[in-house]
Amino acid sequence: MGQKYQQFYRRSIEDRDAFWTEQAALIDWNKPFDQVLEYSNPPFARWFVGGQTNLCHNAIDRHLDARGGQPALIYISTETGAEKTYSYDELHEEVVRCAAVLRGLGVGKGDVVLIYMPMIPEAIFAMLASVRLGAVHSVVFGGFAPASLALRIDDAKPKVMITSDAGMRAGRVIAYKHLVDEAMRLSQSPPEKVVIVNRGLDSNMAITEGRDLDYATLARQHAGEDVPVTWLESSDPSYVMYTSGTTGKPKGVQRDTGGYAVALAASMKHIYCGNAGDTMFTTSDIGWVVGHSYIVYAPLICGLTTIVYEGVPIRPDPGIWWKIVQDYKVKVMFSSPTGVRVLKKQDPEYMSKYDMSSLKHIFLAGEPLDEPTHTWLTEALGKPVIDHYWQTETGWPILTSVPGVEETPIKFGSPSFPAYGYDLKLLRESDASEADADEKGVVAIIPPLPPGCMTTLWGDDERFVNTYFSTFTSKLVYSTFDWGIRDRDGYYFILGRTDDVINVAGHRLGTREIEEAVQAHPNIAEVAVVGVDDQLKGQMPLAFAVVKDASRIATAELKAAEEKAVMAKVDAQLGAIARPRRVYFVSTLPKTRSGKMLRRSIQALAEGRDPGDLTSLEDPGALEQIQQAVKG
Ligand code: PRX
Repeated sequence: MGQKYQQFYRRSIEDRDAFWTEQAALIDWNKPFDQVLEYSNPPFARWFVGGQTNLCHNAIDRHLDARGGQPALIYISTETGAEKTYSYDELHEEVVRCAAVLRGLGVGKGDVVLIYMPMIPEAIFAMLASVRLGAVHSVVFGGFAPASLALRIDDAKPKVMITSDAGMRAGRVIAYKHLVDEAMRLSQSPPEKVVIVNRGLDSNMAITEGRDLDYATLARQHAGEDVPVTWLESSDPSYVMYTSGTTGKPKGVQRDTGGYAVALAASMKHIYCGNAGDTMFTTSDIGWVVGHSYIVYAPLICGLTTIVYEGVPIRPDPGIWWKIVQDYKVKVMFSSPTGVRVLKKQDPEYMSKYDMSSLKHIFLAGEPLDEPTHTWLTEALGKPVIDHYWQTETGWPILTSVPGVEETPIKFGSPSFPAYGYDLKLLRESDASEADADEKGVVAIIPPLPPGCMTTLWGDDERFVNTYFSTFTSKLVYSTFDWGIRDRDGYYFILGRTDDVINVAGHRLGTREIEEAVQAHPNIAEVAVVGVDDQLKGQMPLAFAVVKDASRIATAELKAAEEKAVMAKVDAQLGAIARPRRVYFVSTLPKTRSGKMLRRSIQALAEGRDPGDLTSLEDPGALEQIQQAVKG
């Protein structure tokens, strides 16, 4: 840590109230807060108590005088060829209209609006309109299958759902509305109204009279209506975002309003070095936390221009990202290691032919950034490539370089240092004591969590405490469920998860969720899913399954067909992102004598590593089968 940053960091921990009061001045408050932090009921923290604010006001209204004509949102779709720029004035008009539509459907403070949409401007209008009304949005990633969507509907209990007829990916139409219909059928508590932004991509879209409403028609009906901002108390919720954990049931990460706005504004200044008028290009999707924080809220709160890109990195050709950087003079870019690995395999010409002089930094997160990819991109771009580490739960970086405070040297393979505000420790698993330099420990945060982090799990305070704060009995600490190590220079390295969560192309998946999906196939008696190294995607799931009726896999052809059928089941339950690379059939799975599945040993064998201590193994033959299966 450089000296300047060290001082900045120390102050954020030791003089917390003064530090965050200064950061809070980066946003607008309708009424100032009375107290910086209320922490009488650990680990529940409330930031900027008594203050009144609103995310939509901060993202749009407050900029109208100074930058109403400046581009706020640039939409580029290489799927449909659409390209459209919205100024802050125009964004305001669209969002107010969308808010009027939602209000007309009875949406008000505290109601949930579920958004299941492709990367189109209307998805962002819906998010901003929802928070304008004081409602709580829950955006579900469009790659999730109907059963997953239904699970989220049942937990969030939305009043209204907004979707689109279809999205497009790599030239293929994905019928969103069709998937929604299926999810509504599976749901125990479906919303009464479904609003559809019809892009004219799916001529077969079915309409349920009385339930399904056309957005354009409603927008015309509500044109010209004024929808003032609903002021919220700082800790009122702004959104819920579901994420995977170790159980089959996803967790609804709940975010507040004031703390989140302050955290994002501060991060834009100190970490991303983005100022009003600059352009930011984040290649994520609004269905993920990176999209929430760095496509939508942070850039707009800070008066930047944000790019909303619908498309893949290699179409029409692998230069498309860099062309966008050149054409729109992108200054801040945020992407993922998998995206960069995809481009690394292409002709370097695609990168070198564009003028990237506007670009200051590129930030990568979501999964481990391997050293070769980090080195390659740094050399190819000639710009600092900043690996930073965070989680859906935190909403903004936990470990990062903080170039807005001090440009510190980058070490390849390391996301640098703890971000200000995080009292981060590496703890020994055995007794929660602090690990030494070069010693592996659990990445933990001493609560209170800083502003912007999750405040609880939606409707389940108990699960929030039990899941995140119960790793150690001797200390109340937040566990990230990641292993980390710090070198002698104070640089941190992330070594992988402590739990059964895997990371496929930056998408976080629970192996338990995938196991449940595999088990939905009627011929599967038992299954173990593990994540194994993958050159491109970081990790991929592999499934080892025991069948009920072996005659159905008696020949190579039957086996292949059964494997396909199991994969199809996963596609239908979770979505193609969770599909195992292979499903291997075995007659028994390795377990301890007490019946605990030896997932770590299976994973080690599948990656060709030593399976570790096997003295507790019940049936040694089970491991041999795993070995044979992956070899064969
Ligand atoms: O295991 C860590 C990994 O991704 C997890 C969080 O995933 P998600 O909730 O989807 O949030 C992504 C927000 C950027 C972490 O627990 N992870 C994230 N960033 C990194 C990482 N692993 C290594 N290096 C990173 N930079």
